[in-house]
Amino acid sequence: MARPTQEQVENLREKLRLYDYQYHVLDQPSVSDQEYDRLFNELLRLEAEHPELRDALSPTQKIGGSPLEKFEKYRHRQLMLGLQNVYNEEELGEYFERWQQTLGDAFKVTAEPKFDGLAVELVYEKGRLVVASTRGDGETGENVTENVKTIRSVPLLLRGSFPSLVEVRGEILLMKEDFRKLNEERLRNGEAPFANPRNAAAGSIRQLDPREAAKRSLDFFAHSAGQIDSYTATTQSGLLKDFAKWGLKTNPLTRLLKSRSEVQAYFEDLEKKREGLAYEIDGVVIKLDSLAGQRELGNVARSPRWAVAYKYKAQEANTQLLGVTFQVGRTGVITPVAELEPVEIGGVTVRRAGLHNEDQVQALGLKVGDWVVVKRAGDVIPDVQSVLTDKRTGKEKKIRFPSKCPACGAPVVRLEGEAAHRCTNRACPAQMIESLKHFVGKRAMNIEGLGKKWIEIFAEHKLIHHFSDVYDLKKPDLRKIERQGERSTDKLLHAIERSKDTTLARFIFALGIPFVGESTAKLLADHYGSLEAFLGASSESLQTVEEVGEKVAESIRKFAEEPHNQKEIRRLLERGVHPKASQRNLSDGLSGKTFVITGTLPTLSRDEASALIQSHGGKTSGSVSKKTSYVVVGEAAGSKLEKATALGIPTLTEDALLALIKST
Ligand code: IVH
Repeated sequence: MARPTQEQVENLREKLRLYDYQYHVLDQPSVSDQEYDRLFNELLRLEAEHPELRDALSPTQKIGGSPLEKFEKYRHRQLMLGLQNVYNEEELGEYFERWQQTLGDAFKVTAEPKFDGLAVELVYEKGRLVVASTRGDGETGENVTENVKTIRSVPLLLRGSFPSLVEVRGEILLMKEDFRKLNEERLRNGEAPFANPRNAAAGSIRQLDPREAAKRSLDFFAHSAGQIDSYTATTQSGLLKDFAKWGLKTNPLTRLLKSRSEVQAYFEDLEKKREGLAYEIDGVVIKLDSLAGQRELGNVARSPRWAVAYKYKAQEANTQLLGVTFQVGRTGVITPVAELEPVEIGGVTVRRAGLHNEDQVQALGLKVGDWVVVKRAGDVIPDVQSVLTDKRTGKEKKIRFPSKCPACGAPVVRLEGEAAHRCTNRACPAQMIESLKHFVGKRAMNIEGLGKKWIEIFAEHKLIHHFSDVYDLKKPDLRKIERQGERSTDKLLHAIERSKDTTLARFIFALGIPFVGESTAKLLADHYGSLEAFLGASSESLQTVEEVGEKVAESIRKFAEEPHNQKEIRRLLERGVHPKASQRNLSDGLSGKTFVITGTLPTLSRDEASALIQSHGGKTSGSVSKKTSYVVVGEAAGSKLEKATALGIPTLTEDALLALIKST
């Protein structure tokens, strides 16, 4: 192949940058995901093949570079200020009065959401992102550049024409939905959940492995500036417009307002929208629009006199802890739940709150009978924030973690390095019920109409113990259950029947293997193409699949080797469950042949080559053995090629692979 020129690579990067900008900043994608992936993989390949053409600010850096040892300190050129808070119209009025005294009546302010995220500063020199740092104590923060680079909406290069030094300040946010998913996953894995999206965003940015940070869907809004060289904008609103011109993401809810009453109306209006926003906000930031006016007012200590945070009243209330119950989840994790004296918070009656795990209960110093502060944030489960120890009477009782599973009585353990307690009984009925709910769920086997209620009823009537029992349900069984009419039982049986025809990805996800979430299941299904290949894959092979590390691979192996699981899968298949790989076989010309791909192929990515082989009936594996039929060899192939030569296994170039497929 001809050597790509610097120019070709740069063109590709320029295209990808534009697509990133359109998608993540403007929210207006102009190409399909497939086309994007194709170009991205092409660039990855060129950079892999031609290390001399690599660039630390290439769009490929968004997938995360090598892990760090620690974060270096970073001293901000200019102090990163904090904001004073006000909580009502009167306090806000005091700010307006001061501004009027200094600037007269005719001044404007910007009103922006106060994002509840992690403050960062991005330093662009000649348009290139050179440092991203946390606020720290305002003077010195931490250099988190490698992690911030993975945020899709943070440009690595500015667009258009820009000053030679631009320091942008803004907020990193984790979307509420991603926060919910992340915590679900952490709970499943026995990890401590994050208390709120802000902590989750901070935790994501403070991970030493940028590839881990890259997996979290973080977003960024620019809201203010540090130092900007030779800059001529005169207003905050102008600054935000320039940010947008330079390709930075600014918040569309920002307004330019003329009076206190307009601010009040904005504040109230935004509070109505608050719940529906994809990210958390905790108030409105009001800034004098005129930068000259800002300079005139100056700062007091570490906060500006020209800006203020008008905060929403916390969605909090005080109530009493009546008791603690313990819930057993699908993987046996036992979660404490606070049972509260019902209390109204933001129009919703709250009866229960999450306590997460023993560490959190201890950190709070919580006892039964305590008065507690309960906070409700967006649509997340309410949280116990703190204990009002002043209100103690001495009658409060210590919270005891059960040593036996509340559902089955089996011993409970707390594994080393885990925050969670777990029930040790694999056949625990509570775990089974939760696993079944997962198995039939929308994103798993998708048995419509078979909701959580049904599972509980079936379990109560001892009709279902295992996944496969779902497929043994008969009409008379269902009719026996009170109030079940003919039509609804027919409908349910149909839905059960229909679910047998499913995809491999859904099936793998439905099995509920610890650490295998929906997206990992899909990657595994795409990679292996058949249930048999997946279940037979070695730990080494599994680890060649994206998102699969040692921990996940071990968990899959453990699951696949467990006789009980093998039996259960067999029973499911015997009952007609038929998981199909998403790619239909185009031919079966490669059937019975196993391929190993090594090194970088000239045009196909490894996944593409695997998919191609599988779609012609072949199998792919991550390691070379006597059973390997061919090793497909690309540039910089290593030990696998050596092993193939040693075992006398034929090798193929990409061209030869394509020719082989054509000829079959
Ligand atoms: S302007 C001095 N605008 O709130 C100006 N800050 O207490 C401060 N914050 O950590 C920055 N939303 O990161 C500004 N729209 C917004 C903001 C905002 C959230 C954060 C900021 C800082 C904290 C100040």
